[in-house]
Amino acid sequence: MVRPRRSALYMPGANERALLKGRELGADVLIMDLEDGVAPDAKTEARSRIVSIVKEGGYGHREICVRVNGKGTKWYEEDISTISRSGVDAIVLPKVEDPRFVVDTAGLMDKNGAPEGMKIWCMLENARGILNAEKIGGAHSSVAVLTLGGADLTKDLRARHTPDRLPLIISMQMCILAARANGLDVLDSPFFDLSDDDGFYQSCCQGRDFGFDGKTLIHPKTIDTANIVFGPTTEELEWAARISKAHDLALAEGKGVTLVDGKLVEGLHVDEAQRLVELDRLIKHRENIQ
Ligand code: COA
Ligand code: MG
Repeated sequence: MVRPRRSALYMPGANERALLKGRELGADVLIMDLEDGVAPDAKTEARSRIVSIVKEGGYGHREICVRVNGKGTKWYEEDISTISRSGVDAIVLPKVEDPRFVVDTAGLMDKNGAPEGMKIWCMLENARGILNAEKIGGAHSSVAVLTLGGADLTKDLRARHTPDRLPLIISMQMCILAARANGLDVLDSPFFDLSDDDGFYQSCCQGRDFGFDGKTLIHPKTIDTANIVFGPTTEELEWAARISKAHDLALAEGKGVTLVDGKLVEGLHVDEAQRLVELDRLIKHRENIQ
C-alpha cells in the first residue's frame, strides 16, 4: 500500500505549542516525542499531554506517531501501555537492536489493547541495530517503517558528521535494503544544522536518490523542501504516463518490451510508474482536503 511519508516532523512532547502547531503544518507525519527531545523530569507530564492532545484530534490526514522511551528505560512500559490506548497510528521505537525487542513490544501493545492496525516503526541508530536491520524489519507484521537515526549512529560509530555522509553510506543502504526486503517504507535521518538550507536540500536529494521514502525533520521550515524533493516531479509523472501508454500498446502487440525516446521500457518500469502516479494521487487528495 502506498502512503505519502515525505516529511516526518519530530515535535517534543513537552512543547505544547509545537504539538498544537502540528494541526496546521503540511507534514505527512508528526512524530510526538517522549524520548531524547524530552528531559527526564518532563517525561510523565509530556506523556499525559500527548494523550490528551491526540484525543482532542484536529490532525486530519496526518499520520500521528509517538516516539516512546527505549526498552530498558524506566519509562518504556508505561509509555507503551498508555500510547497503545491513545488512538495514534504508530509507536516509534528508538534504538532497536534486536528483533526480540520488536516482538516483546508488539506483545505488550496487544496486552494493553492496541488496535490491530496500530503500527510499529523501528529506529536503527546504533551498530547492532544496523547489522540486525533485516531481522528487525521482518520481526513482526506490525512493523511498517524503518527510520535511520543519524546522530546516535554517528556517535556509536565514532564517525564524524560530513556533508557527503560517507561515514554513513553503508548504514543508509543497509536500512533501505532491510526495508525493501520486508516490504516496508524507510525514512532518512534528520539534518541538524537549521542555518544551512542548501545543505538540507542536498541531504534530501541524496536520501531520495538512495531510495528513502522521506526524511525525518526537526523544524517546520524544512517541511516544504522535503515534500517537494520526496514527491514525484512533473517530469516523472509525464514520463510515467508515456511509458504506461507505450507499454500497453506493446502488450497489445504481444511484446513485453518497447523503446520510448530510445530507452528500454519493461513491466518493471511500469510498476514504478504506477507507484508514483498513486503517490501523486494521494498527495493531491491531501492538498485538497487541507
Ligand atoms: N514542531 C512543531 N513546531 C515547531 C517545531 C517542531 N519541531 N520547532 C519549532 N516549532 C515552532 C515553534 O514553536 C515556533 O512557533 P511559534 O512561532 O508559533 O511560536 C516556530 O515553529 C518557530 O520556531 P523557532 O523559533 O524557529 O524554533 P525554536 O527556537 O522555538 O526551536 C528547536 C528550535 C530545534 C528547539 C525546535 O525546532 C525543536 O524542538 N525541534 C525538534 C527537536 C527534536 O524533536 N529532537 C529530537 C529528534 S532528533
Ligand atoms: Mg536517537
